[in-house]
Formats: sequence, structure tokens, C-alpha cells
Amino acid sequence: MRWRVAGFAALCLFVSSVATRGEDADRRVAIVLTAEEKAFVLGQMRLFVESIERIVSSLAAGDRTTAAEAAAARGGKRFQAENVMPATLGAKFPEMWRSFGQPMRKGFDELADGLAQGEPESRALARLGETMRNCVSCHQSYRIIDARD
Ligand code: HEC
Repeated sequence: MRWRVAGFAALCLFVSSVATRGEDADRRVAIVLTAEEKAFVLGQMRLFVESIERIVSSLAAGDRTTAAEAAAARGGKRFQAENVMPATLGAKFPEMWRSFGQPMRKGFDELADGLAQGEPESRALARLGETMRNCVSCHQSYRIIDARD
């Protein structure tokens, strides 16, 4: 019987130390968002992946028009015009967050414009790579946690 208790205690200790280490290991800055804000931000993120797939597949197939449209759909110009961001969200983004998000949106605009102006596919891919460094840097810096409401 005693070994069972000891075993259970050891398991608890193990589980709690793993949980604690998990928290400590995550050094990304937490952005506290409501359910609605979080759903919006993550929804945008999934659109980025979708558009990147379209850009890469279209460029590979030589379909520059579709690639340009897919890039423009994620650009800053379209985002401003659509004006769909929850009003409460802007104030929650730190300056550094913006320093990743704005050049990323601009990068999609420039990718679309470059293709429209006849830039080669290799240049478009290079632009996409540059733009995606903002995805990488922001993901290394931030995570989202739920506001207690
Ligand atoms: C300004 C910051 C920022 C930028 C730029 C950014 N992301 Fe994110 N992204 C985040 C954060 C924060 C999360 C949530 C991570 C967490 O809480 O662990 C996230 C989550 C995601 C997710 C998960 C979505 C889900 O439904 O859970 C995907 C996919 C993603 N990002 C793709 C991208 C891609 C692709 C790009 C670039 C084109 C990008 N992101 C640019 C901050 C950013």
C-alpha cells in the first residue's frame, strides 16, 4: 500500500514540476485579450497562412494575378479599408507588436504591387520571405492569454 502512496506523491511532484517548468520556459510577453479580441487576432493569423499558401502555389504555377490578389488581401491598404478590427484591440498592442505587424502588412502590399509592375516570381518569393520574418519575430516575442471576465 505504501508504495502506491509514494508513487502517487512522486507522480504529483513530477506533474507539477513539468507544469511549472512549462510556464517558466515560455518567456514570450503575454498579451491579455478578451474572447472576441482573441478570436479576431487568431482568425487573422489563419488568413495569413491561407494567403501564403495561395501566393506560393500561384507563383509556382505562374499565376501572377492570383498571387498578387492573395497578397493584396493581407496588405495594409485592404486591412485599413475593411476596418474590421474590434475597437478595443488597438490600444492593447505594444509598440514592438506594431513594429512587426505594420511592416508585415506593408510587405504584402509591396509584394502585390511588385507583381503588378512585372517583378519576377523569384523577387516576389524573396519579398514573401522578408515579410515572413515578421511572423517569426512576433511569434518569438508574444503569446495571447485570456482576460478574466
Ligand atoms: C505582431 C505579432 C504577430 C505577427 C506579425 C504574426 N503573428 Fe501569428 N500569432 C501571434 C500571436 C501572439 C499568436 C498566438 C500565440 C500564442 O498565444 O501562443 C499567433 C498565432 C498564430 C497562429 C495560430 C492560429 C490559431 O488559430 O491558433 C498562426 C497560424 C499564425 N499566428 C500565423 C502567422 C503568420 C503566417 C504570420 C505572418 C504572415 C503571423 N502569424 C504574423 C502574433 C503574430
